[in-house]
Amino acid sequence: MENLLSIWELDRKKIEGYLALAGEVKKNRERYLHALEGKVLAMVFEKASTRTRVSFEAGMAQLGGHAIYFDFTSSQLSRGESMADTARTLGRYVDIIMARLYKHADLLEIAKYAGVPVINGLTDVEHPCQALGDLLTMQEKGKLRKGAKFAFVGDAAFNMANSLMLACTKMGMDVALVCPKGYPPNPKFVKEAQRFGKVEICNDAAEGVKGADVLYTDVWVSMGMEEEKAERMRAFAPYQLNGELLSHAKKDCIVMHCLPAHRGLEITNEVIDGKNSVVWDQAENRLHIQKAIMLRLLGKA
Ligand code: CP
Ligand code: NVA
Repeated sequence: MENLLSIWELDRKKIEGYLALAGEVKKNRERYLHALEGKVLAMVFEKASTRTRVSFEAGMAQLGGHAIYFDFTSSQLSRGESMADTARTLGRYVDIIMARLYKHADLLEIAKYAGVPVINGLTDVEHPCQALGDLLTMQEKGKLRKGAKFAFVGDAAFNMANSLMLACTKMGMDVALVCPKGYPPNPKFVKEAQRFGKVEICNDAAEGVKGADVLYTDVWVSMGMEEEKAERMRAFAPYQLNGELLSHAKKDCIVMHCLPAHRGLEITNEVIDGKNSVVWDQAENRLHIQKAIMLRLLGKA
């Protein structure tokens, strides 16, 4: 039985398999309308979500299956039932579980006890569904090429940067992590990504994005970090993705954001609504990649 817990555990061949299947599912939606008939997905949410929740639920419906929204606060988890016992129980009812949690260790606990495939819908360590969807978008836009430069600007010390530095290097791209000194990227992830390709850390924003083919940013205050808001606003201000910063990247670069965007903070209206932005295609691809992930983990494609 297979899970999708991280990009860390995927090799290039596996990633390419997901991308190819997602492309196929996207092109031929009708062919898969009954592919997961009778299958049930439980979606465990400890944190807020728009894209992950709706794309998984819509995706399951489009594959002929059913999705259940399982909210932490209204479940017995909020009254102290353990993650392990919750996983044991859910595994008796559903065929596959997706979970968005604060602690990655809790995800591993679910995977250990559920007895059905488990998908990481975001933890403090990785967001693999987003990173795989993002590779699909880069591929469609002609940017998933050996030696193309992927620049991650802003909070390169958290889940998105972790997943993306591995995803991009495994696919042959060069990665620049453009961030303030006080918020360095996770050294364990940098070391692992450097096994596959070039990863540089740059504290100068304009220098870091120079010649980039892909510019990527994420929120400055991730879910669970709300108390650090004031200091983060100060530290990340020089890393705003604005017109000036964009002018240092390649003219035909694409601008990506996992969303939700905080317009006027990590990205300006001018850039997110500008001609280089691909953020809505990027958001759409979450749907296609997740359909591919569910089909594969359930052995249906
Ligand atoms: N990008 C992403 O995972 O969005 P949500 O938080 O809305 O699910
Ligand atoms: N880094 C962000 C990603 C949101 C999709 C967070 O964890 O809140």
